[in-house]
Amino acid sequence: MPAASRSKTPEHVAIIMDGNGRWAQQRGLPRIEGHRRGVETVRTVTDAGRELGLRTLTLYAFSVENWSRPQDEVSALMGLLEFYLKKELNTFIKNRIRLRTIGRTAALPAGVQKALNHTIEATKEFTDYTLVLALNYGARTEVIDAARAYATAVAAGKENLNDDSWATFNRYLYTADLPDPDLIIRTSGEERLSNFMLMQGAYAELVFIPVLWPDFAKADLAAAIAEYGKRERRYGQTSAQLKTTDT
Ligand code: FPP
Repeated sequence: MPAASRSKTPEHVAIIMDGNGRWAQQRGLPRIEGHRRGVETVRTVTDAGRELGLRTLTLYAFSVENWSRPQDEVSALMGLLEFYLKKELNTFIKNRIRLRTIGRTAALPAGVQKALNHTIEATKEFTDYTLVLALNYGARTEVIDAARAYATAVAAGKENLNDDSWATFNRYLYTADLPDPDLIIRTSGEERLSNFMLMQGAYAELVFIPVLWPDFAKADLAAAIAEYGKRERRYGQTSAQLKTTDT
């Protein structure tokens, strides 16, 4: 069990970026225009996260379910992603941002994979701030991949099937070397997790913000962090127990 934490600043914030389509629809624009504006917000929020003292920021950019969107929207999203990665490379290096991904990235278009690999390689030495893009990500798919890798390790004699510790199984998730998110934010007013970080978010605080992603600003991130600071993370303990250990 994780140690009870009373830190007011989350180390790892994960965001479900929602509302690009509605933002565009409200303006009579094509959905892709909402995604284009959404990429601007990705830039703003990446900077804001660093300025607000986060160590890790995870963004849910494309889910395993998103392939079922209209083909032209999927292609446009992939094009935007590749364009964003190429355009941001210098900024990542200048601002010392490490890029990571979670998800089945081998199924992404070759151009996107190339841009990802290039940026990941060029930023791998940075340690202060990590941007994690969840791409072709789904929590259930992640469990399947982890179970397969774990079973392979057991068959090879590298793991013991009687070891029932979470710490061991955790090493087979995409996030093996990342801390669990302290705070998960979803924008747009929808209040669900949509197959996002279901294992890692077991003890995360959830904050739902009724702002569409293209309109999400640094102040909204700061407000979510302030809300997090008011929460008491108990990890199964009582409030009284936490008060005793806190002094
Ligand atoms: C949800 O809005 C958003 C997405 C499915 C994709 C998020 C993608 C981006 C912000 C752009 C690409 C990402 C990067 C990192 C460059 P929605 O379309 O589901 O909105 P709706 O619910 O209003 O239709």
